[in-house]
Amino acid sequence: MSLILSVETSCDDTSIAIFNNEKLLTQFTLSSALEQSKYGGVVPEIASREHLNNIHQCLINCLKEINLSVFDINYIVYTEYPGLPGSLHIGILFAKMLANLINVQAIGINHLCGHIFSAFINEDKISYPFLSLVVSGGNSVIYKVDSPVKYKVLNITVDDAIGEVYDKVARTLNWTYPGGPIIDRNYDENKATINFIKKWPEPTTNFSFSGLKTAVLNYINTKKMKNENIDEIEIASSFQKTAIELIIDKLQYYKSVYNINCLVLGGGVSANNLLRQSCKKITNDLYIPELKYTGDNAAMIGYYGYLLLKYNNKIK
Ligand code: KG4
Repeated sequence: MSLILSVETSCDDTSIAIFNNEKLLTQFTLSSALEQSKYGGVVPEIASREHLNNIHQCLINCLKEINLSVFDINYIVYTEYPGLPGSLHIGILFAKMLANLINVQAIGINHLCGHIFSAFINEDKISYPFLSLVVSGGNSVIYKVDSPVKYKVLNITVDDAIGEVYDKVARTLNWTYPGGPIIDRNYDENKATINFIKKWPEPTTNFSFSGLKTAVLNYINTKKMKNENIDEIEIASSFQKTAIELIIDKLQYYKSVYNINCLVLGGGVSANNLLRQSCKKITNDLYIPELKYTGDNAAMIGYYGYLLLKYNNKIK
C-alpha cells in the first residue's frame, strides 16, 4: 500500500486528493469560479489569493474524511506546469514544504498528462496505443499515447483554446461565465443553421479557433450595428455545431492515419454533450472521464502520479 497525496492549483480550482495506489480514497476541491464569474473570466490575482485561503482546508478535509494523519502519506505529487504562474506557485510551494516536513518525495506533474489519463480513473486497465483529445479553457491538443511516459503531440492549437472561445462567445451574448456549460445546455440542433467556418485548409493544419471566434463575434456585432434581432440560441448552437465538427474532422483524420480506434477524451470541454455524442459515432472504443474529472481536479494528478510511480517500479 502506497498513499499518494496530490495537489492541483493550476487555474481557479484548489484541489487535493489522496490515493491508495490506483484507488482514489478522497478528493476535496474549493473553486473560485463563482467569484471569477463577476469578472467574466479568470482574474489571476483572485485565483492566487483564493488558493492561499483554501489550500490548507482542502488538505484538512481530505485527511479527516479518511481518518489519516499527514505522516501516513508516502508520496506527494503536484501540478508543476502549465497554468497560471501565481496559482501554480502556491501549489508547488505547499507540496514541497509538506513533503519536506513529512520527509517524502515530491514529484512535479504535467497538468496535461492528468487530463490525458483522467478517463481511466476507476477503470481496470489502459490499452495502448490510444488517441487522446484534451480540450479545455487553456488547451486543445491531440496526442498519440503509447505509455504513461511516451506520448506525441499530433495537433495543438496555435491560438485560442476551444474552451476560451466558448467563454468568449458566451460573454459576447451576455451569458454567464464559464460559457461552455451554458452553450451546451442551450444547444438546439434545429437552430444550428448559420454557416460559420466549415473546413480546415489541410487535415494536418494545427487547431486554430480564433477564426471561428472572429466569425461569430463579427456576426453578432454586425447584427447589433444594423439594429437587427439577435437569436442567441441560433448563434450559440451554430457556433457549437461548427466547433465540434472541426474537432471531429481532425480526430477522424488521425484515427485513419494511425489506424487507432481507441479514443480518450479529457479536459473541461470533454463534458460537452455534442462532443461526446459525436465521438461515439466515430468509434466504439471510447473513454470519457466522469464529469467530476473533466475540469481541473487533483484526482487526475494523483492518478497520473500513481501511473508514473508504477511505471518506474517505485510501487507495486
Ligand atoms: O479543464 P478546465 O476546467 O480548465 C482549464 O484548465 O482550462 O476547462 C474549463 C473550460 C472552460 O472554458 C469551460 O467553458 C469549458 O471548459 N467547459 C465546457 C463545458 N463545461 C466546461 N465547454 C463546452 N461544453 C461544456 N459542457
